[in-house]
Amino acid sequence: MANSMLDSLTRKALFALDPEFAHTMAVTALKTGLVPGCRPKPHAALAVRLWDLDFPNPLGVAAGFDKNAEVPDALLRLGFGAAEVGTITPLAQPGNPKPRMFRLVDDEAVINRLGFNNKGHLAAQQSLAARKGRPGIIGINVGANKDSDDRTEDYVTGVKAFADYASYFTVNISSPNTPGLRDLQARDALDNLLGRVLDERNRQTERVGRTVPLLLKIAPDLDELGLDDVCAVALERGIDGMIVSNTTLDRPSHLHCQDQLKETGGLSGAPLFAKSTIALAKVRERVGPDLPLVGVGGVRDAGTALEKIRAGAHLVQLYTGWIYGGALMIPSMLKEMAAELQRSGATSLDDIRGETTRDWAVQPLSSKK
Ligand code: FNR
Repeated sequence: MANSMLDSLTRKALFALDPEFAHTMAVTALKTGLVPGCRPKPHAALAVRLWDLDFPNPLGVAAGFDKNAEVPDALLRLGFGAAEVGTITPLAQPGNPKPRMFRLVDDEAVINRLGFNNKGHLAAQQSLAARKGRPGIIGINVGANKDSDDRTEDYVTGVKAFADYASYFTVNISSPNTPGLRDLQARDALDNLLGRVLDERNRQTERVGRTVPLLLKIAPDLDELGLDDVCAVALERGIDGMIVSNTTLDRPSHLHCQDQLKETGGLSGAPLFAKSTIALAKVRERVGPDLPLVGVGGVRDAGTALEKIRAGAHLVQLYTGWIYGGALMIPSMLKEMAAELQRSGATSLDDIRGETTRDWAVQPLSSKK
């Protein structure tokens, strides 16, 4: 009770601030231990084992919150089953001019055009080295510098830099805020990228003594042919999973906050739920039942998290819904998810995965790139 009052007061205070400043304050609060941990009691039905990793629950924090790997342990203490840090680029870069992050409060959404602002590989390596040996699943999301001469090589460098620290890697080619980055989703470019990145991952396997799973994070704005290509290359190259999806360039006309909709950047949160879930289900139908998928986009409560699983996901991530729901929301979400599973007679997430894949997959995608 005291925690939930504190949570709601903190949220009100943060919402009075500029969104990016509020984000910096939140990371600082987590760093200094001001936010109380609330590690939830484990729910056996929610445990997920994938790639030899034991996820205590399927809810991960999506990339973009902890861009420099400064607070992964604090995020895990809040109940997340995994923390994905990044996107990290080889060199530090400032990102786009401010303001570049906007709340659409009445739509429970955010638009951002941060542009991979981050402190670079070295700073993140130092942070991760300082926590080495601690338990917890840490995904490392790698990207390319805006001014890089060879963006593909930036991803290779990322895999080399973080193989010692990553529970899994995410190759993020789907940010809309680095001009041209999404072109890496085109068939030949993707084939070349995945070939080189997987070669490096395999070289690192010998050195670190284990194969670090490599996931590809895609945009929700691909059309059917684009999805065909991405899924075909992903399967041919043998990647370990896909994350669907990043933010969208769509600007749905039914939203309340029409003023902010004029801002360029990626839209996330509640209005992304349907689109990213349709994309997830379409990917599931293309890759078959076994490739692990992570469903992201508009998750904000137990119902939306379970729907991602029903649509075909093994794991789920959230960011915007967590901003609106409050830092301490994860344990209650997990409790409700476990209760809902029990009500429906399921004993594990495997029992419900795929139940609604077809229903989502038949719906149309918009073709905006
Ligand atoms: C993001 N996202 C993101 N994704 C990524 O792969 N690398 C990144 O650096 C970022 N940065 C970022 C910043 C901000 C402010 C937001 C809101 C989002 C995308 C994020 O990981 C996720 O894919 C989408 O936001 C959709 O999920 P939600 O937010 O609707 O739960």
